[in-house]
Amino acid sequence: MITHASYGVDPWCLRENVLNLDVLPQSESVFALSNGHIGWRGNVDEGEPHGLPGSYLNGVHESHPLPYAEAGYGYPECGQTAIDVTNGKVVRLLVDDEPFDVRYGRLVSHERVLDLREGVLRRTCEWTSPAGRTVRVRSTRLVSFTQRSVAALAYEVEAVDSQVRVVVQSELVANEQLPRSTRDPRASAVLDAPLAPEEHFARDGRLRLVHRTRGTGLRVGAAADHTVDGPDRTRWSGEAGDDVARLTVTSVLEPGQRLRLEKFVAYGWSSTRSLPAVSDQVDAALAAATDTGWKGLVEDQRAYLDAFWARADVEVDGAEEIQQAVRFALFHVLQAGARAERRAIPAKGLTGSGYDGHAFWDSEMFVLPLLTYTAPDAVAEALRWRHSTLPAARERARQLGLRGAAFPWRTIDGAEGSAYWPAGTAAFHVNADIADAVVRYVDVTGDEQFEREAGGELLVETARLWRSLGHHDAHGAFHIDGVTGPDEYSAIADDNTYTNLMARSNLLAAAGFAEAHPERAAELGVDDEESAAWRDAAEAMHVPYNAELGVHEQHAGFTRHQHWDFAATRPDQYPLMLHFPYFDLYRKQVVKQADLVLAMYTCSDFFDEEHLARNFAYYEPLTVRDSSLSACCQAVVAARAGHLPLAFDYLVEAALMDLEDLENNTRDGLHIASLAGTWMALVAGFGGMRRRGGTLEFTPRLPERLSRIAFKLQVLGRCLRVEVHATAVTYTLMDGPELTIKHYGEPLTLSPEESRSREIPELKSRPAPDQPPHRRPHSHH
Ligand code: BGC
Repeated sequence: MITHASYGVDPWCLRENVLNLDVLPQSESVFALSNGHIGWRGNVDEGEPHGLPGSYLNGVHESHPLPYAEAGYGYPECGQTAIDVTNGKVVRLLVDDEPFDVRYGRLVSHERVLDLREGVLRRTCEWTSPAGRTVRVRSTRLVSFTQRSVAALAYEVEAVDSQVRVVVQSELVANEQLPRSTRDPRASAVLDAPLAPEEHFARDGRLRLVHRTRGTGLRVGAAADHTVDGPDRTRWSGEAGDDVARLTVTSVLEPGQRLRLEKFVAYGWSSTRSLPAVSDQVDAALAAATDTGWKGLVEDQRAYLDAFWARADVEVDGAEEIQQAVRFALFHVLQAGARAERRAIPAKGLTGSGYDGHAFWDSEMFVLPLLTYTAPDAVAEALRWRHSTLPAARERARQLGLRGAAFPWRTIDGAEGSAYWPAGTAAFHVNADIADAVVRYVDVTGDEQFEREAGGELLVETARLWRSLGHHDAHGAFHIDGVTGPDEYSAIADDNTYTNLMARSNLLAAAGFAEAHPERAAELGVDDEESAAWRDAAEAMHVPYNAELGVHEQHAGFTRHQHWDFAATRPDQYPLMLHFPYFDLYRKQVVKQADLVLAMYTCSDFFDEEHLARNFAYYEPLTVRDSSLSACCQAVVAARAGHLPLAFDYLVEAALMDLEDLENNTRDGLHIASLAGTWMALVAGFGGMRRRGGTLEFTPRLPERLSRIAFKLQVLGRCLRVEVHATAVTYTLMDGPELTIKHYGEPLTLSPEESRSREIPELKSRPAPDQPPHRRPHSHH
């Protein structure tokens, strides 16, 4: 947990008033800037001290052999790790003859502010050097949403009470030394000096370094340009070597005088382009950035975010920290996906090296739902990335003896990167998750072109996988055996309910697509027989049920397993996977993260109200939330089951996952899925939003702690605003033509700019279920 007074509560920014070096690595993640293509951790300008210096380019990775004690057929042989690329944010400062370093001298004041409307990170500090010279440093940094290859910063140093000679070194640094990784499997593999130098250049304020990754052969270019503004005695010069290019500026400042530097940085990478082409590419991006200028970049950033907030903001009354957290979450999720453009959205976005920079099902099931309703173009891009990896997914299916496509559990470039097959390869649900994201995107946007092209092919190839992975038994029932569901404390299980229900939707969606687009289906080789087989499998899909208990089973036989001995498990033995063998976890009733409970959210039509309540009550006391993906799902289902205070506590946990470092690993990067889950908990939980075909339905209901929430959704080219109070809700169609939605089952047709209010029916109260000892969400009542 972050133990200092963490961050000030403010609706539109995150402010840190004191620099606490104990939590420096966490703050670097929290203050990270990204546009989905470039990622800069919130390191201090001078580079040190740091927890993890981090500069990333989405997709730039190195490969390494995956070692196995015992070899086996079909094990992925090659691991992938996102690497630290050239660091363009370093600006070092020498004050008289001492380096500006917050660990020495006296830090009089230090403030950092992440501004969620401006999209910049600001830093202001005053520092007295060990020799007694005081300077004020102000910096502002951004990673541009509007110019995808560009990041920039403005850096200013001011003499406070005596004349000082200052030297500012603005650098591009490659192959920075990284701290050794821990044994936590969620951290990353560290590769030494992964970048081989190819070119360096410096002239006046212009710098450029081009490198190539040694194994994957990716060419990475970074260029910088500067404007310098200072008193008369200001001089500068540039120099470059293999791994460092530097502009050195010297000046003598009288008290009150300032030296100001604007630094524009452009990045580019390619697996195919030549050295001159990559050099030119970064120079060109840089030219565009300097032409726009610092002021222009800042204004464009603001305009981009104004437009985002106008269509995506969530307002929360009653809990200031949740208001702040949900905007922080929206901001970071936008950063993770905004300009990823046919690249993956990794579990940590580009905020840290955790999970080696891999993308998981987190994108499709947690991140894309939020983006579908707020930044749908980013969703089309993310799904087109999946589509571009179809050749690898088809090859993987073939290797596994299956048809269609088997998408990887974790990956950067589309190849399976999981060395632990029971939780990797066997987690086939990722395929249905991708299909679900396709259907959601198409339903919510009506993007038919996408549906016919990439979307349809994704549906067809994943449906083929299910049809070949499962089988009809002697009675005709369709089973999918030996797979791992979302709960990674059960593996290789038969008929995982989540997987089966999601596969069922996938099969039906593919069959529906084939009917609606027969020509395209024919092109993809689908005939009537194949789509009929998909429907048969879907209709016969087995869903395990324990009639005695009256609950659905997470997988066949789950409820018969021995219960985990929670009484004998100490609080410090969580997460269980770091303290107990998987062997034991797998054979007991203990749930890492929402699985059956998640199914009740994503496949809500399948469960009636009674089962929703009974299942939730059954699985709650077994669910330990050792994954950050759990709390938000539990929040949604708790809200739907009418356990509003519990839902609120789960919302808080999801919302503060990183702001309070609840999983003790925010240093490795933010939990993007949990951040997106904050939105999910509010919109799908307390807003009760669900989708049936193209229609949105709402069953809103607020917990006592919140007096009002309001959110906006982009649906079929319209903007719908939903404002929920304790006893009533107002739906407003802000723009676009007529739209029909449902409120507690009642159809409501909204004309343009029309608002309609409805009462919220009273709640049937039920006793809230328990959680395992020590695993209750922190109560916020
Ligand atoms: C969870 C997975 C998730 C991964 C990345 C794991 O701990 O169990 O469901 O995809 O983290 O966030």
